[in-house]
Amino acid sequence: MPSPVRVVGLGGSMRAGSTSLTALRTALDGAAAAAAQPTLLWVRELDLPMYSPERGIPPAARDFADSAYASDAMIWSTPTYHGSVSGSFKNALDWLILLAERDPPYLTNKPVGLVSTAGGVQGLQSVNSMDFIARALRGWSVPMVLPVAQSWQTFDPDGTLADEMVSAQLRELGAEVVRAARQFQAEGTCDYADAGQFPADGAVGRPAAGRPAAI
Ligand SMILES: Cc1cc2nc3c(=O)[nH]c(=O)nc-3n(C[C@H](O)[C@H](O)[C@H](O)COP(=O)(O)O)c2cc1C
Repeated sequence: MPSPVRVVGLGGSMRAGSTSLTALRTALDGAAAAAAQPTLLWVRELDLPMYSPERGIPPAARDFADSAYASDAMIWSTPTYHGSVSGSFKNALDWLILLAERDPPYLTNKPVGLVSTAGGVQGLQSVNSMDFIARALRGWSVPMVLPVAQSWQTFDPDGTLADEMVSAQLRELGAEVVRAARQFQAEGTCDYADAGQFPADGAVGRPAAGRPAAI
């Protein structure tokens, strides 16, 4: 019996009654129904300080990075703020710089499911922003994404999800993330160090063995 796929969800809103958190919970329910072991992390509870390279590393940031690293897959869910992800969500992900020196680094070979909510119709922009971030962190964005538009219509004021179709889509996304993680487990992974064409990190300068970092 294979060990259950560990899926860590990250909710990116500081708001009580957050719609993106409800969306994340629903996607994690879908992951659990696909026999995964879900863990929900919420920026409001993580309470991470603003990332600064000059400050000490707070235990909360270390714990968050360790949880992300120990996962087999992640699901990210952010509110759309000014056409992109929320600052608190991006700040949490900035702390994953703590995974730069791990082997493999960052979120290598982890599928990442992407969900957003938006007051208008710009949620896909947040999803696309998350896609950029996931790839920068060596993660694999799952093709099925869910930007929930006009969240004020889809969720009740307390954040309850009223729309059965959106709920079903979110659960399906959660199950899809689990399927992707199982495929990675079954088929092995990409080893960039052997691939030759990818320096280990073009963004932060972590050199591959014997190779200069690309700047
Ligand atoms: C600072 C701020 C910026 C926002 N910018 C946008 C935006 O650019 N496009 C949009 O469709 N909705 C925007 N919204 C609306 C939120 O995306 C929407 O209310 C979302 O569902 C909030 O997620 P939450 O309930 O998880 O906090 C913005 C809301 C705030 C507070």
